[in-house]
Amino acid sequence: MTDQIKFTLDGKTVTASKDETIWEVAKREGTRIPHLCHLDKPGYRSDGNCRACMVEIEGERVLAASCVRNVTEGLVVKTETDRADKSRKMVFEMLAADMRPREESPDDQSDFWLWSESMGITGSDRFESKFDAGQHVEFDISNPAIAVNMDACIACNACVRACREVQVNDVIGMGERGSHSVPVFDLADPMGNSTCVTCGECVQACPTGALYEKTLMDDSNKKREIKEFDKVVDSVCPFCGVGCQTTMAVKDNKIVQVDGRNGPANENRLCVKVALAMITP
Ligand code: SF4
Ligand code: SF4
Ligand code: FES
Repeated sequence: MTDQIKFTLDGKTVTASKDETIWEVAKREGTRIPHLCHLDKPGYRSDGNCRACMVEIEGERVLAASCVRNVTEGLVVKTETDRADKSRKMVFEMLAADMRPREESPDDQSDFWLWSESMGITGSDRFESKFDAGQHVEFDISNPAIAVNMDACIACNACVRACREVQVNDVIGMGERGSHSVPVFDLADPMGNSTCVTCGECVQACPTGALYEKTLMDDSNKKREIKEFDKVVDSVCPFCGVGCQTTMAVKDNKIVQVDGRNGPANENRLCVKVALAMITP
């Protein structure tokens, strides 16, 4: 039990393991801290790049990213101060400034827009967007199952970790530099011409809809069309003997979305067979 410590979270003394982050303990204690680049799923390490999860720590000059900051004995953490709140809102406003308006985004129900909505952020009147500066990334529908709309990308790197570290396919990397930074497939190939095996992990990871299932989109593949499902069913993939657990969403008697569930054999992951089954009539 030596790795157990006590610290203060929003005025309450809590016990935690030294291996845990502030974000993880806060979640366990019922506090929702916004997050974008951090995925609360098995196999994903925190990257700490988006700064959506900032919290205040007593005695420290700067705010801390709660998803990458481990807890230590005696820490006094405040998640709901004006300073932390302002900082998080600023992050969301700057990202929203670089997005197309919510109604034009690939998924207006994405984690990004739902968090923005909870903070009252709808866009920005004061920051120039990448579109004002003439920056625009090509739309790519070369993959049979996935639409790529990097105009909605916030360069959070989640898809890179999904492909490289979780599925170990290593198709996606970050290309370009600075504000032009964007995920690319192999040597910036169209997704459908790359070595992508269409496992769908990057789609599950993306918090904005920049990578999205075509089955849920309208004919232009630019915008989510199916927003409500007739039913959502927990199931087990039937294609081989591994026993990967899935959650399937059904609309008009067709499976339109399959997500991996956290089963012992697959820990949320899926393979190519499921995605291809979805696009096979
Ligand atoms: S679908 Fe799978 S293999 Fe293809 S880019 Fe995404 S994570 Fe990598
Ligand atoms: S495509 Fe999605 S997951 Fe990948 S960096 Fe952009 S926003 Fe993040
Ligand atoms: S969610 Fe913590 S830095 Fe992105």
